[in-house]
Amino acid sequence: MIGIDKLGCYVPKTVLPLTTLAHARGVDPDKYTQGIGQKEMAMVSHNEDVVTMACEAAHTILSDEDKALIDMVLFATETGLDYSKAASIYALDVLGLPASTRAIELKQACYASTGAMFLAMDYVRSHPTKKVLVLSSDIAWYGFESAGEVTQGAGAIAMLISMNPRLGAIKEGKKTVRNEKDFYRPLYSKVPVVDGKLSIECYQDMLKEVQDHHPRLYTCFHLPFANMAKKANQVMTHPMDEQHLSVVKELGSRVGNIYNGSLYLSLLSVLMHAKEDLRGETIGMFAYGSGAMAEFFTITLKEDYKSGLNMESLKAIDQDRIELSMHEYESLMNHYENKEYSASLDLSTYVKPYQTFVLDRATSGHRTYKKLK
Ligand code: CAA
Repeated sequence: MIGIDKLGCYVPKTVLPLTTLAHARGVDPDKYTQGIGQKEMAMVSHNEDVVTMACEAAHTILSDEDKALIDMVLFATETGLDYSKAASIYALDVLGLPASTRAIELKQACYASTGAMFLAMDYVRSHPTKKVLVLSSDIAWYGFESAGEVTQGAGAIAMLISMNPRLGAIKEGKKTVRNEKDFYRPLYSKVPVVDGKLSIECYQDMLKEVQDHHPRLYTCFHLPFANMAKKANQVMTHPMDEQHLSVVKELGSRVGNIYNGSLYLSLLSVLMHAKEDLRGETIGMFAYGSGAMAEFFTITLKEDYKSGLNMESLKAIDQDRIELSMHEYESLMNHYENKEYSASLDLSTYVKPYQTFVLDRATSGHRTYKKLK
């Protein structure tokens, strides 16, 4: 049996309340909170990037024993730092993983995490004593006053893939790929080119095609915004009721879109907020990445699935948050855009007490990270 041994998550503490954004943009707040379904979106701080977020997520789950068994690190992101060098090399170094590890970065919009998970499962099948660390880390940034501004967010998921997993066994379902122009980020652009309506149509169409038509207590979805769960549920042969649907989207509504990690954030939402005893339960999982690739699969939870989670760190996700004003949000995201395109950085003055990993500086575009605790 192969699957997810451990699952960890990190979300930045700084958040923008959607009512603040609505007032600033002259939009009825109900459109964002009721129509889109978002309460807050997480925004990266000055000294965070996809590497620090991935390391924070991994740090919550990895023991020294796990680290010794990791043979490969797959880093799924559409927020790449470098055209050549994989973010996994930075992460591997900062996390102190063995030098014999294979380190690669993967891309296919928000689907790369799920693609990486299936590649990791194949690897573990042929190297059964080894484990693979799959990191998903992204910053969803659409630009000020864009249609997608309300569907931003930032965060990371870490998954340890192994034989005899603690959390749950993964079973492959159906997948499909099409050449679509719903959402992509060409080399010339700092933000994605998005056809929002087309992206929702592609998502729903492909979900119709790959779903397995089994009634289930919960199906988790890739959630670019919380009410995408409602739109996904509408095309399911066996839709969930309102109460179950709200469990699937609860965490996402406090975080926003974290691209590659969003489906697994929805899974964590179920694991944290479901009222039922989930031991032995099979949960449906729908992965979608614009461009477009979709896949439906299931996870069957183990009796002791909670041993694959770090509950304390998960509970901390929506605690002690720092609410940004509109001015702070704008200055933070201006800083973010400049940071991503600067050859030289010195961020050593920005350290916050809750951070374990920080981006300290960049020299000739090469980043230097620090582990603080
Ligand atoms: N009170 C309550 N509800 C209101 C309202 C009000 N005053 N005003 C509008 N609404 C409702 C609308 O009726 C609508 O609800 P339904 O969708 O249920 O009809 C909802 O609020 C949103 O309104 P609009 O459709 O008018 O919003 P919009 O034109 O501003 O676009 C969006 C919304 C398409 C999601 C846009 O934010 C966007 O382009 N986002 C980025 C792309 C995206 O997230 N696509 C999702 C699928 S692609 C994917 O999954 C990959 C990925 O990660 C990007």
